[in-house]
Amino acid sequence: MKTTTPHWIAIGILSVILVAIGFKFIVLGSTAQGDDGRTAVLLEPAERQAVLGEMRVLLETTQEIVEALANDDLTSVESSARSVGSAAITTMDFTLRAKLPLAFKKLGFGTHYAFDDIADMAKAGKPSKDIQLKLADTMNNCIACHASYQLPSKPIVRR
Ligand code: HEC
Repeated sequence: MKTTTPHWIAIGILSVILVAIGFKFIVLGSTAQGDDGRTAVLLEPAERQAVLGEMRVLLETTQEIVEALANDDLTSVESSARSVGSAAITTMDFTLRAKLPLAFKKLGFGTHYAFDDIADMAKAGKPSKDIQLKLADTMNNCIACHASYQLPSKPIVRR
């Protein structure tokens, strides 16, 4: 009877390739070295516009929350914060998600969860000052992500 020996070398090479592909897609996403020292996330024009559109919504919502906090209007704080909470994540396209590096997604999703927390604090009637501190802390995510990533409008040629 003929016995077949497993092709360990082939299996080994395939495993390495699979791990490398996984690393590329899950950890690195679609990125290159940006022209200003930040990591450039390479997106299709429509995807880039979708992300930047979401950013402008984040800025508007942050303004609404700051104003509502100054007015002690916790109902508005809750509804504004909830609109950019974790429920907003599900609208993200799968191919776009695959292009974002893991650290970018962590910061981005973490920001949406932080807005859930702000909405919950407002619902629970926490003092405006406490919510303001939570918002200030949440905005450190905006700063951290902007310091690390850029979205070039034209793809940078890979070396
Ligand atoms: C996970 C990463 C990430 C987080 C978190 C993040 N941003 Fe951004 N944002 C970006 C990137 C990347 C750009 C594009 C920057 C560039 O190309 O120079 C951007 C751009 C923007 C812009 C410009 C939009 C335009 O039309 O050009 C605004 C406004 C903005 N962000 C607001 C915010 C605010 C407010 C927060 C926090 C509440 C926030 N962002 C959190 C990644 C992030």
